[in-house]
Amino acid sequence: MKFLVSLVMFSLLLNGFTFAQTLIQDSCKKAAVKVPDLDYNFCVDSLTQDPQSKTATTLEGLILSSTKNAEAKAMNVKGIVEQILKGKKYESIEAELRDCVEFYDDANDSLNTALASVRSQDYITANENFSIALDVPGNCEEEIKERNKQHSPVSDENNILLQKISIPCALNYMLI
Ligand SMILES: *[C@@H]1O[C@H](CO)[C@@H](O)[C@H](O)[C@H]1NC(C)=O
Ligand SMILES: *[C@@H]1O[C@H](CO)[C@@H](O)[C@H](O)[C@H]1NC(C)=O
Repeated sequence: MKFLVSLVMFSLLLNGFTFAQTLIQDSCKKAAVKVPDLDYNFCVDSLTQDPQSKTATTLEGLILSSTKNAEAKAMNVKGIVEQILKGKKYESIEAELRDCVEFYDDANDSLNTALASVRSQDYITANENFSIALDVPGNCEEEIKERNKQHSPVSDENNILLQKISIPCALNYMLI
């Protein structure tokens, strides 16, 4: 595995001068090949729009910045659900929405745990915690939809969150 990691790092370094611009494209392309669920365009757009990811110079740096970006999105969606709860418009799914709020905190915890593992280059353990975080948007949707077959008011947000988490998850998976 060490050899593989070195090889990935080395081939990324070979890009030399255009390194910074192509790191995102290259990483997203390779990750999308390895993890077909990852949307290449979403990956590139999301990382290019994130100031920290945009200036990352290593694959590991990109994993760390995209993890923080996914955490920010989880907290953003949590805030949206809390607003919905205040509005009382969705009282029939209030309990499910409250569960979702907790799930987003769990996702934040799992992403933080993954962050620590990536920093200590334990990509296998990081993968386990990325995978746990990856289940959160779907678990929230499932709970809401099981109840009264009601359409979820946060489907779009959960979908974006899923994709945001899938980026560091797929990038990290390349290093296993
Ligand atoms: C997300 O997790 C970090 C680290 O555990 C914590 O410092 C931060 O407060 C959490 N964010 C929220 C909004 O709970
Ligand atoms: C991280 O993953 C480990 C191993 O699967 C698990 O035991 C632990 O509960 C996870 N922690 C979080 C916060 O997801």
